[in-house]
Amino acid sequence: MNRQINLKSRPKGLPTESNFEIAETKIPSVNDGELLVKAKFISVDPYMRSRMSDAKSYVPSFEVGKPMDGGVVAEVIESRHPDFMVGDAVLGHLQWQEIQTVKAESVTKLNKSAAPLSYYLGILGMPGLTAYFGLNEIGKPIAGETVVVSGAAGAVGMVVCQIARLKGCRVVGIAGSDEKNGYLRDVLKVDEVINYHTEKNIKAAIARSCPGGVDVYYDNVGGEISDAVLSNINKYARIVLCGQISTYNDIEIPVGPRPQPIMVKKSALMQGFIVNNYSDRFGEGVKQLAQWLGEGKLTYQETIVQGFETLPETFLGLFHGKNTGKLLVEMKA
Ligand SMILES: NC(=O)c1ccc[n+]([C@@H]2O[C@H](COP(=O)([O-])OP(=O)(O)OC[C@H]3O[C@@H](n4cnc5c(N)ncnc54)[C@H](OP(=O)(O)O)[C@@H]3O)[C@@H](O)[C@H]2O)c1
Repeated sequence: MNRQINLKSRPKGLPTESNFEIAETKIPSVNDGELLVKAKFISVDPYMRSRMSDAKSYVPSFEVGKPMDGGVVAEVIESRHPDFMVGDAVLGHLQWQEIQTVKAESVTKLNKSAAPLSYYLGILGMPGLTAYFGLNEIGKPIAGETVVVSGAAGAVGMVVCQIARLKGCRVVGIAGSDEKNGYLRDVLKVDEVINYHTEKNIKAAIARSCPGGVDVYYDNVGGEISDAVLSNINKYARIVLCGQISTYNDIEIPVGPRPQPIMVKKSALMQGFIVNNYSDRFGEGVKQLAQWLGEGKLTYQETIVQGFETLPETFLGLFHGKNTGKLLVEMKA
């Protein structure tokens, strides 16, 4: 028997496990040009929250009663395509199903010996590329500048922190626990860390950690943390709008300080982006990230939860800071 996880209902506010349902399905038959694949690692990502709603976005909404989908690393268990063999590992945008058929041309064959397979959903996949292009193309960090990163201990954030360090910048990371901040400081050599849960005055903490002001702000979270960073920016600061996870479950978007006056006063740039804007350059990004990893200049952490049925609960953990680095579900052997 095969299993899939469907969107059962659209959440209002913070999703719960009741918004998902697990269903038993048949193992599909395979046609010419297709592969039968078995999921090994399934990615859970913050952008999936907006896909659970029916609001228009840059990716289509999930359909109620249909399986969720996203980044998956899978193993080929039957091939009806000459370029793929049983046992090959593939990366694709697949459904939350244990076993499914895919068109061979819709997946990428992975080199099983180059890196742990799960890294293709993290540092060598979408989150790593998001860090690489957002920081380099919009943040344009220059050696000696101060780069502040929110969501610093997450899948994207921890890569941003390290690339900024490689560029010779002073890096200040903001994350939600002392344990995460210890990892940022001791392992990733981030210069200063701020725990936004225990710090009473984040604006003052940023001023203290950035005595020369903020040149680049890589924004993964939005909300009050970003308001506090913005009040500390330098002339010609660049604000990289990568994500706003602190607002994803809001029913009404709160009105905060309006950023325009400070943007004018500081001649600052604020730019949003979607990683797919750089899809024609993904090869370059993966090559550079893999090279830095191989040279030991980048390191990576993952939080891997076991068992297909844990997908809904694991996904919800993103909104409670349960993960350090990339959050993934691994199928039981
Ligand atoms: N623009 C793009 O193309 C693109 C691509 C990928 C990701 N993103 C965005 O980038 C951000 C990071 O994504 P990711 O995959 O790396 O996720 P992640 O950081 O690995 O996981 C989410 C983390 O967000 C933090 N968080 C949750 N609720 C929060 C809140 N209310 N306030 C502050 N922090 C909160 C938690 O860490 P703490 O313990 O530190 O709170 C949690 O561990 C997200 O906003 C995502 O939507 C954008």
